[in-house]
Amino acid sequence: MCRTLNGNSGMTPEEKKKALEGIDRRDFMGFCATVAATLGLSSSFIPKIAEAVEGAAKKPSVIWLHFQECTGDSESFLCASYPSVEELILNVISVDYQETIMAASGIQAEDALKKAMTDNKGKYLVICEGAIPMGTPPGPGGKPGAYCQIGGKTAYDIAKEVTAGAAAVVCVGNCSSYGGVQAQRPNPTGAKGVGEALGIPTVNIPGCPHNVINSVATIVNYLLLGSLPKTDRHGRPLFAFGKRIHDHCPRRAHFDAGQFVEKFGDEGAKNNWCLYKMGCKGPQTYHNCSLVEYNDGTSWPIKAGHGCVGCSEPNFWDNMQPFYERLPNIHVPGVEATADKIGFTLVGAAAAGAAAHAAYTFVNRGKLDEDKKEGE
Ligand code: SF4
Ligand code: F3S
Repeated sequence: MCRTLNGNSGMTPEEKKKALEGIDRRDFMGFCATVAATLGLSSSFIPKIAEAVEGAAKKPSVIWLHFQECTGDSESFLCASYPSVEELILNVISVDYQETIMAASGIQAEDALKKAMTDNKGKYLVICEGAIPMGTPPGPGGKPGAYCQIGGKTAYDIAKEVTAGAAAVVCVGNCSSYGGVQAQRPNPTGAKGVGEALGIPTVNIPGCPHNVINSVATIVNYLLLGSLPKTDRHGRPLFAFGKRIHDHCPRRAHFDAGQFVEKFGDEGAKNNWCLYKMGCKGPQTYHNCSLVEYNDGTSWPIKAGHGCVGCSEPNFWDNMQPFYERLPNIHVPGVEATADKIGFTLVGAAAAGAAAHAAYTFVNRGKLDEDKKEGE
């Protein structure tokens, strides 16, 4: 028997009832409060979120596609233990197709996909995980996109067919958003993010992996308002990617005071000083990691003592390398310092600091883009 996660042919009514009973009311409201905070909504929205989640007459059908990736975003999604998240997620959305975790395989899985697409035409959400290879393998019989095929179809053809009837396409993780590690130079398979490969608009929730609270908040936003959240020019929801790591970093006071970790394990590291000199890319990375943290608010890279590598930025595998080297020294107009000394300069000069980083980002990104063009 073909069994999907929660579609019409999925959980039995008894199983659904049992799952719902497993959600403690206080935990559920706590979950709604977390989502409201992530979306930047006031606490007055908590009951509205609860109502939207509980009252949705028909849970949106979700088709989750896998392409070139490590399955880290599925792991991120499934391992989250927000209050009874398994049960909650299974009842907020109807995950009708997800190759990694569905029991069906082969023809049965293909049938589940076709049924979800037909039954919910124009209304289902597609979540994409992984990049799409556009290159052609060398040798006889090589066809475009053949580096990634499922059931004899290329990732490109599957994505094109499935997204054509979707209400919206949400990309989770850096690979589906922008190509990820597969697209790193020299990009042997011609990997691209889903939006770029297909030429369609997508909501991108990058990260390596993405933070599940951001995908859940995006879906709840859809349930609550019937629309997807506003995004920046890279397709990232502004509620999660509207601010730089550096602007909300708990180590920022040490940056401003010129107190830096010089070597892993030194006194500065023990005192949680700024990781800028250890290569932290927080000053040019947009993500809400410091505010929501990973693993249900347990930790995040900088809290764990490692600099940010910019995993939510397009082409971070190229643009943010070397990961363990500080941002290059540059002379900032109007500031008598190089980037290395900027922490000292910034004491009492926060406005100049913002200008300095903006100038740095502009100069450095321009150089990186130039480098990339040359390498292509
Ligand atoms: Fe935090 Fe990194 Fe900025 Fe230092 S450079 S304050 S560690 S984001
Ligand atoms: Fe990624 Fe930097 Fe956050 S490495 S997880 S964007 S702190």
